Amino acid sequence: MDTLLGTDLAHAAALLRAGELVAIPTETVYGLAGHGLREDSLRRIFAVKGRPLTNPLILHFASVEQLPSYVRMAAVPAAAHRLLAAFSPGPLTLLLPREPAVVPDLVTAGLPDVAVRIPAHALVQDLLRRLDFPLAAPSANPFGYISPTRPAHVLSQLGGHIPYLLDGGACQAGIESTVVGFGPAGEPVVYRPGAISLEMLQAVVPATRMRTAPEKARPAASPGLLPYHYSPHTPLQLFGPGHAALPPFDMATTGALAFRELLPGLPAAQQIVLSPGRGDLAEAAHGLYAALHQLDALGLQLLLAERLPNTSLGLALNERLEKAAARK
Ligand code: TXA
Ligand code: MG
Repeated sequence: MDTLLGTDLAHAAALLRAGELVAIPTETVYGLAGHGLREDSLRRIFAVKGRPLTNPLILHFASVEQLPSYVRMAAVPAAAHRLLAAFSPGPLTLLLPREPAVVPDLVTAGLPDVAVRIPAHALVQDLLRRLDFPLAAPSANPFGYISPTRPAHVLSQLGGHIPYLLDGGACQAGIESTVVGFGPAGEPVVYRPGAISLEMLQAVVPATRMRTAPEKARPAASPGLLPYHYSPHTPLQLFGPGHAALPPFDMATTGALAFRELLPGLPAAQQIVLSPGRGDLAEAAHGLYAALHQLDALGLQLLLAERLPNTSLGLALNERLEKAAARK
């Protein structure tokens, strides 16, 4: 199968209605989208990604008004409404009680909650408005590999496996949406840190918290918990922040991903600095996955990546780097 690249929304919509998959741009990363209510399309998503059926999918909607058909609104906590009002459309995913007769088990891996997101990217907004069903869309990378933030990343990883890639250029945020569930008192709980920081959520709902260790350990509550994820093929090792804990390295075969400045002792051509001089976390997020893709293509033996300051967006970026480095 040839993968065509373009901005033909009518063609993308027709393919999706017919049960085919289309790669879509969002403000976070590219998604591998399929009909969110059709079992054949859902199975195709898992097959193309090589993803286990136990890891549930996010349903994408054009607007909050579409949610009541899919979510049991009477059981939605008040805090969810406040977060939706503040951050939708945008890089926020909420875990809400699903309408079991409408949302297929394959979407939620049988869990009682469904992940819902209203993406802000103009192209995907236009696409969703042409459809009378939500789109299921995981990030458009093979299971465990680096997420795609540019059309070229999708083509190099999934080219030949999908008929169409909707070209929306480089993704603005560059890191996945923040996944938020709700605790026993209806308080927001961050399941996956992402493009909306904990501080931003707390500014709207002060009781928002990260998941506790016992909550993370409960298998049913953390289906996406993996030993590794977001990983390049080249072995990756973390250091820092700054130059702390820098392991010995061979200058000819090592690459580096740094935050503010080049690593001394390594050729500049084997390095990428995410936010030269400025140390801006949003700029680092925008370029993180693209930098990992680029360094991974150099054919080196080892990649070194600098941990970022562990505040706001840095929390999400460090979580991705830790998981990327965990592949053995
Ligand atoms: O930014 C994003 O969220 C991108 C774009 C394409 O929208 N999508 C994305 O999807 O990152 P994916 O499948 O790569 O990651 C979704 C995460 C996984 O960790 C999954 O386990 C979790 O959300 N998740 C999905 N449904 C869930 C549910 N019902 N309960 C708990 N976690 C869920
Ligand atoms: Mg993913």
